[in-house]
Amino acid sequence: MRAVDVIMNKRDGKELSREEIGFLIDGYVAGEIPDYQVSAWAMAVFFQGLSPAETAALTELMLKSGTAIDLSGISGPFVDKHSTGGVGDKTSLILAPIVASLGIKDPMMSGRALGHTGGTLDKLDAIPGYRTSLSIPEFRRILAKDGFAMTGQTRDIVPADRLLYALRDVTGTVESVPLITASILSKKAAEGAEALVFDVKFGSGAFMKDSADGEKLARSLVDTGTAMGKRIIALLTDMNEPLGNMVGNFLEVEESLDCLEGHGPADLMEVTLELAARMVILGGKAKENAQGRRLCEEVLASGKPRELFLANIESQGGDVKKFLDLRGKYRSPAGAEIRAEKSGFLSRIDAWKVGHAGVDLGVGRNRTEDAVSPTAGVQFHRKGGDSISAGDLIMRVWARDEAGLAAALPQLQDAVEYTETAPPARRLILKEIQS
Ligand code: URA
Repeated sequence: MRAVDVIMNKRDGKELSREEIGFLIDGYVAGEIPDYQVSAWAMAVFFQGLSPAETAALTELMLKSGTAIDLSGISGPFVDKHSTGGVGDKTSLILAPIVASLGIKDPMMSGRALGHTGGTLDKLDAIPGYRTSLSIPEFRRILAKDGFAMTGQTRDIVPADRLLYALRDVTGTVESVPLITASILSKKAAEGAEALVFDVKFGSGAFMKDSADGEKLARSLVDTGTAMGKRIIALLTDMNEPLGNMVGNFLEVEESLDCLEGHGPADLMEVTLELAARMVILGGKAKENAQGRRLCEEVLASGKPRELFLANIESQGGDVKKFLDLRGKYRSPAGAEIRAEKSGFLSRIDAWKVGHAGVDLGVGRNRTEDAVSPTAGVQFHRKGGDSISAGDLIMRVWARDEAGLAAALPQLQDAVEYTETAPPARRLILKEIQS
């Protein structure tokens, strides 16, 4: 078999056999097929798509490129949530201790910020001392003790995705439904969760720009995951505006603690609780959404998730006292404010522009090897739907350095959209999709 034939078959719209896909993936991981051929294949997939059988084969072959975590000996149920990526999206940090407080184990393997979207690992790394590269025995021990553990991918887990994702990121082939499906599901299958909730984001700050494409991705994740024997629920959620009032690594951990203390912003709490309710259902602790949500709200009010969140910081090497002392103060020195240019209503703050400005501020990265700043970010004092008067404070901004601040400020100013009349209320959760 030759890689060029596999590329041409896909370019011409033919369905690839499992052997052809395996030849390409195995050869790529072994270093026998070069980046330029896999890039050409990924672009062919971007335009021609993959059938459900091809997507399932790709997912399975990527999973088999590495080892899976064995959770035997730990009592379940094991349920995880995965977001397809957004701006200000810190729901994982809030819902893991909520569902763990209800007896559900969340084995969470997360990613880093890339491009305009944030990454859970970079947020956790902002907590002084917190370790996000756990060995598998450490991951198992903390999962059993706290009910959740949060780590990055190890070198042995889905190496095909590590290579492919980095390549897709620089070849304009990220926004492909089958490639995203295989990338996400291969990783999620490797971490040992029996059931998964997907937060499939659509809108300016998401990979899928409209709800129709978001729904296609949700359907593909649900169908492929179900065929792999996982129980799956996907929620299609709006990512046209950042979630919550904070964007930034330490800022988002801080806001997660606010949520666990009962004073989180409404949009963030709504999405978090709806996702957590589905995890509770998949974990067998509730029969329907309203019951699942009620259980989450009750346990949140008990304070137990907050305690577990702080216990997990300690378990993963973090300094709880220092973390709490830094609250409200750990900010980059280069700062500025953005104030309303006119009176009327704020129709939205564009998530895409904020995400891109975040890279200049130091929140995110353009290349995997770039370092991020723990203390850079944006705090919103007003969001879409609010009435405003000229001069009102809309956001406070902190940048790693003055050059980053100068680059980010015009983008942030441009992200603020005004209307004269009240904009229609935004529906945060558009649809639920299950098998
Ligand atoms: N997240 C992933 O893990 N993979 C993708 O391809 C896109 C988002």
